[in-house]
Amino acid sequence: MRIFTILLFILLLNSCKSEKKIEESIDNSVPERTELSYDSKIFLGNRLFSEKTCVTCHDIDTYFKAPSVIEIMKVYKENNADIVAFLKGNSKPILDVTASEIAIMQDNIDGFLKNITDEELNAIATYMMHVDELVKNR
Ligand code: HEC
Repeated sequence: MRIFTILLFILLLNSCKSEKKIEESIDNSVPERTELSYDSKIFLGNRLFSEKTCVTCHDIDTYFKAPSVIEIMKVYKENNADIVAFLKGNSKPILDVTASEIAIMQDNIDGFLKNITDEELNAIATYMMHVDELVKNR
């Protein structure tokens, strides 16, 4: 009887192990996402810039309700600044603008920008920083 119990115990142990193995193999089969290519970022960034309503205030090359994307890109390049950091609220605005303009953009940072993922913000920033090349190619 005791041998039987021990055998049963070993059997149980083994079945647990094999279940674990299956779980591990499922985990490993999930492919890791690599970073988006430059072209995909530009494509996605361009789309998000319209979809997320940025375009309702920021025109590409002329001041509309806010500084143009070209203007922002120039200042960010000159200062070697990070658009993603600004959009996440981690760095202060660097354009020469009025306090009320800053307040308008700050509302976006405190509001709907919180619902945009890091990957999407990164794509938007990549698009904004290369918008001059895209305009040239039009
Ligand atoms: C309701 C109008 C409005 C919308 C919508 C808007 N912006 Fe702005 N944005 C502004 C204004 C006004 C400024 C100028 C104030 C400032 O520079 O902080 C500005 C400034 C900026 C700046 C420069 C900040 C600096 O360093 O001075 C960036 C970058 C920017 N916006 C990105 C975006 C992106 C990306 C979106 C969409 C996700 C967006 N904005 C949507 C009005 C808007």
